[in-house]
Amino acid sequence: MAAGGKDFVGPYRLFHLIRAGATYEIWAVRPLGENVAYAMKWLPPGKNFTRQATNDLKHEYTVGKNLVHRSIIRTLDFGTGKDGSYLTMELFKTPNLKQQINEGVERLHYRLEDILTEAALAVEEMHKAGWTHRDIKPDNFLVSDENEVRLIDFTIARRIPKGLSKLLSGKAPVQGTYSYMSPEQIRGKEVDARADIYSFGCMVYELMTGKLPFTASSSTELLNKHLKARPQELSVLQPNVQADFGKLVHRMLAKEPADRPESLMEFYRELKAGRCFYIKPKPPLTPEEEAAQQNDPKKN
Ligand SMILES: Nc1ncnc2c1ncn2[C@@H]1O[C@H](COP(=O)(O)OP(=O)(O)O)[C@@H](O)[C@H]1O
Ligand SMILES: [Mg+2]
Repeated sequence: MAAGGKDFVGPYRLFHLIRAGATYEIWAVRPLGENVAYAMKWLPPGKNFTRQATNDLKHEYTVGKNLVHRSIIRTLDFGTGKDGSYLTMELFKTPNLKQQINEGVERLHYRLEDILTEAALAVEEMHKAGWTHRDIKPDNFLVSDENEVRLIDFTIARRIPKGLSKLLSGKAPVQGTYSYMSPEQIRGKEVDARADIYSFGCMVYELMTGKLPFTASSSTELLNKHLKARPQELSVLQPNVQADFGKLVHRMLAKEPADRPESLMEFYRELKAGRCFYIKPKPPLTPEEEAAQQNDPKKN
């Protein structure tokens, strides 16, 4: 039974809690009388059940329902009522990429090109549909063992300014995740695709080196580093990176949007051409292989 003492939310039976965040809970659910499973992002009744939080969820639904791509989560339904507000989507039961990073980035390296290819295509698709995601980070990519990817969490996505509005320097609420946030987003500017490209660059840097481009002991210091500091050379932390690929990641991290690649297609093409690592990383040993290696007399 759910925390709020509920078995059902709208016509959906809750059967497994996937994750409880500060505002929303993510559940695996089944529609009444059907033998299929979906994921539900649920805003339960209680102190967080505000009009603003419902509007945010509705916004996520509005953005997601028109995004149809194999590497973007399929958004299905939205509802609000006495059970709170909810959004349902395709259930993709895999750890998010941050959870996988926490197991050690080296374990991902042999399949990094495949994962990043799909992740880049997903973000590119959002841009082509006229949206910036504005919260690109490993937590918002779900990745399976077969390198299938799903981009999630469109809560703070915004329309890319077009035409005349491009010329007016609009203001946007400062939202996002500090460790991955572009300088212009920090400054509260209306952003375009290049802000996501910056955040994507932070994520690639982290995936390749196990370190974020910037860390600090306070959020002010962290934001200041995004605005002014140079990240440590990627190739110093990851000697196996190809020089041009390292340079491209640093260009994605440029302070000025005009100095970054214009779209993720340039990054995609480099990956497709296999220009990421010099020496192809090997898959990690299975526990059985590790045990066998330790027992091998030749090794001792
Ligand atoms: N469709 C889904 N299928 C499986 N797990 C999901 C799904 N959507 C979200 N999750 C899990 O819930 C976490 C939080 O989801 P997210 O939409 O990013 O919420 P938040 O707004 O709290 O960040 C994800 O990182 C993932 O672990
Ligand atoms: Mg999220």
